[in-house]
Amino acid sequence: MAEVVIKGNGGIYLIFLFSLFCLCQSLFRGADTFKRELKVELNPGLHYPPPGGDLLHVRAVGYNDTLHFLFCSQGAPTLLLVHTNSSSSTVQVNWPLFLARNTSGSLKVKPEGSILYSTAVVFSRLLEYDDVNNTADPNSELFPPYELQNFTWSHLKLSGSIALLCGADATFINGSLCFKLSVFGSEGRGQYWPHLLHSANSSQLEVWLDGLLPRASHSRFLLELQAVGGAYPLNRVDVYQSIDDEFTPSIFKVSQWVSAQNGSSDVYGFVQWKPVAYRRSNPTLEDATPCRHSEPQSQSSEEMATLSGLIRSFYSDLEPFGLNMSFGLAGDPFYNSTNFLSWTMLVGVGSPPVDSFSPLVITIMAIGLGTPLILLLLGGLWVCIRKRTVDSTTAYEPIN
Ligand SMILES: *[C@@H]1O[C@H](CO)[C@@H](O)[C@H](O)[C@H]1NC(C)=O
Ligand SMILES: *[C@@H]1O[C@H](CO)[C@@H](O)[C@H](O)[C@H]1NC(C)=O
Ligand SMILES: *[C@@H]1O[C@H](CO)[C@@H](O)[C@H](O)[C@H]1NC(C)=O
Ligand SMILES: *[C@@H]1O[C@H](CO)[C@@H](O)[C@H](O)[C@H]1NC(C)=O
Ligand SMILES: *[C@@H]1O[C@H](CO)[C@@H](O)[C@H](O)[C@H]1NC(C)=O
Ligand SMILES: *[C@@H]1O[C@H](CO)[C@@H](O)[C@H](O)[C@H]1NC(C)=O
Ligand SMILES: *[C@@H]1O[C@H](CO)[C@@H](O)[C@H](O)[C@H]1NC(C)=O
Ligand SMILES: *[C@@H]1O[C@H](CO)[C@@H](O)[C@H](O)[C@H]1NC(C)=O
Ligand SMILES: *[C@@H]1O[C@H](CO)[C@@H](O)[C@H](O)[C@H]1NC(C)=O
Ligand SMILES: *[C@@H]1O[C@H](CO)[C@@H](O)[C@H](O)[C@H]1NC(C)=O
Repeated sequence: MAEVVIKGNGGIYLIFLFSLFCLCQSLFRGADTFKRELKVELNPGLHYPPPGGDLLHVRAVGYNDTLHFLFCSQGAPTLLLVHTNSSSSTVQVNWPLFLARNTSGSLKVKPEGSILYSTAVVFSRLLEYDDVNNTADPNSELFPPYELQNFTWSHLKLSGSIALLCGADATFINGSLCFKLSVFGSEGRGQYWPHLLHSANSSQLEVWLDGLLPRASHSRFLLELQAVGGAYPLNRVDVYQSIDDEFTPSIFKVSQWVSAQNGSSDVYGFVQWKPVAYRRSNPTLEDATPCRHSEPQSQSSEEMATLSGLIRSFYSDLEPFGLNMSFGLAGDPFYNSTNFLSWTMLVGVGSPPVDSFSPLVITIMAIGLGTPLILLLLGGLWVCIRKRTVDSTTAYEPIN
């Protein structure tokens, strides 16, 4: 009898845990099954690598829409996203005009009426400063910036929908600045820290600075980014509290640089990151270094069009905003400690992905919440049975 009771309770406990687990899963994560079909094309319409840098085109086709991801190193590395409401929209490049880099309209998404939204991010400059007093104040002793438009960029190395671009300039002794673009067909998580959550509507860009000989032993770095968004500029960065879990340990924030109507929470396009960079390519927790962003500032549209061939070719008028990402806080090790720095961000359209509790945390929560409840239940049951047996013994006693 006792054995049966224990077995029964074990079963109930498991069923209870399982249903709690499912409940938590559905509460914290609406399973996203949305998928896009990816088609990768290098230098569309051209049969030889163009001088000055490759143009990658990834078509991500949904049911009734297409996301065109364009990544180009004609000038400063640029990622352009164009969202259309047609699953058959195409990209057309007039190569002679595109390579001349002096007219807009040399890259078109057709039919033009199908364009719903577009956004672009340009990596314009790498800044280095000598932090002699270890205050991480970027305005202290700035060296002349590295202009990324003047770098020599490698050809794009493709592997599926992942593209690798590395570059350096003449003063970059043995070092390189690399970009890894990943376009995704469905929801998932980055393979490496900070394991950003992505959807089929966003792409991930990882940037790293490897082996550069710093100009001072107390050198720290900044990366200048500029961005444009269709109807609304990317003019604000929202910082949210995020969950600290096994995916990005010890990071409690997520930052979103968004294209949105003033005061509205509807986001058209975004750049999302966690404020953390890593000092090694195979990082441990000690290699994490915090990063900070400056407030987005309005930039010159003429300058932005000059530094990026892709921006020049697609946009005729734009309202760029720019910000500086600064790596390392006062007291953190300097760049010379590892001669490596990597940082990861997402670029996408629509609402940015929202982090949820991981299955591990949910299981811990389920056990944490479930065990006391089960104990209460068992306690109640025991009291009931006890009461019954006592009742029955008292009921039988007078007869005896
Ligand atoms: C796609 O568009 C067609 C016609 O415009 C519509 O009937 C269909 O419901 C749409 N499908 C989706 C998944 O939005
Ligand atoms: C663009 O540059 C090409 C060659 O450099 C030149 O022939 C052409 O006239 C220029 N077009 C404009 C609009 O400046
Ligand atoms: C796509 O958007 C354009 C412009 O907003 C609109 O004119 C067109 O009807 C739309 N097409 C479809 C298939 O929804
Ligand atoms: C560093 O500290 C010294 C002494 O406090 C000060 O004179 C100097 O201006 C500081 N340098 C910078 C770049 O802030
Ligand atoms: C970078 O290239 C631009 C355009 O070619 C040129 O005007 C500028 O002087 C160059 N900057 C450096 C630091 O070489
Ligand atoms: C650059 O690399 C070469 C070959 O690996 C090496 O011999 C040289 O010492 C390196 N230079 C510096 C400054 O690290
Ligand atoms: C991605 O975009 C498609 C089409 O606009 C939309 O149906 C889907 O819900 C979006 N997915 C996410 C995760 O935002
Ligand atoms: C949005 O806000 C900014 C600054 O707060 C202001 O300069 C701009 O004019 C506003 N735009 C609209 C469309 O209200
Ligand atoms: C980034 O920092 C440099 C140096 O302080 C400054 O000249 C530049 O304007 C900043 N860029 C942006 C977009 O704020
Ligand atoms: C980096 O520079 C600092 C300051 O000069 C020096 O103390 C430290 O040993 C250097 N670290 C490495 C790994 O070279």
